Amino acid sequence: MAARPEGDLTPVLTADGVRRAFGDTVVLDGVDLAIRPGEVVALLGGSGSGKSTLLRVLAGLDPDAAGAVHRPSHLAVVFQEHRLLPWKRVADNVSLGLSGADVRARALSALEEVGLHGRGTAWPAELSGGQAQRVAVARALVRRPRLLLLDEPFGALDALTRLRMQQLLHRLHQQHGFAALLVTHDVEEALLLADRIVVLEHGRLVESIEVPLAHPRTPDDPAFGALRRHLLGRLGVSV
Ligand SMILES: Nc1ncnc2c1ncn2[C@@H]1O[C@H](COP(=O)(O)OP(=O)(O)OP(=O)(O)O)[C@@H](O)[C@H]1O
Ligand SMILES: [Mg+2]
Repeated sequence: MAARPEGDLTPVLTADGVRRAFGDTVVLDGVDLAIRPGEVVALLGGSGSGKSTLLRVLAGLDPDAAGAVHRPSHLAVVFQEHRLLPWKRVADNVSLGLSGADVRARALSALEEVGLHGRGTAWPAELSGGQAQRVAVARALVRRPRLLLLDEPFGALDALTRLRMQQLLHRLHQQHGFAALLVTHDVEEALLLADRIVVLEHGRLVESIEVPLAHPRTPDDPAFGALRRHLLGRLGVSV
């Protein structure tokens, strides 16, 4: 059951005129974006198009960017690498920076939600890549985010693990109703998960398309295929 607040259409995030340059190179040249509560937006773009730069600006991690960003206080980020601290046990990585009497219980419960029941006392080095990324998702989840920002979170995983992680993310979204911005270079991943897909090119969002497909989605669906061809064409891949 989705926990989306019915009727609340105030965006959970708005960005107006975001600009970022490194020296003379303008990477973001006036990006406008609004994300609705509970909405999953996929951000597509070629390598070097500025996706990670934009995610960092939206997360509030880039003090040198220009433009206005309004973000919720309950926000969490999942990076491509899991970024776990090797000297802290798994549960302590999940609860890092949080305080309160119930933090331990919340961390263990988040680990259970991502399928890592009983692994709280393990060290990060004892985990597979997929498990470590699940811990990173649990660390985000335990913050009860209204908005989750994910930068190619499953990019380094093998195809099967990636599929499982996509299903996990979809299930968690259904249960918790957070909004999400999913950076990916994978058109299929975007079409499997997103309510809307935006494309970053030459520093601007050049396209925003709704994905009007019911879940569970399958690439065999002709409507899925048509959107896939359209987006690949947009990204300059001929099909
Ligand atoms: N700290 C930095 N200093 C200088 N240039 C940077 C810095 N960070 C990013 N850039 C440049 O900004 C551009 C966009 O980089 P960014 O990492 O945002 O791309 P991306 O779309 O995330 O690419 P990828 O799909 O490969 O992850 C690149 O040309 C990159 O070289
Ligand atoms: Mg990137």
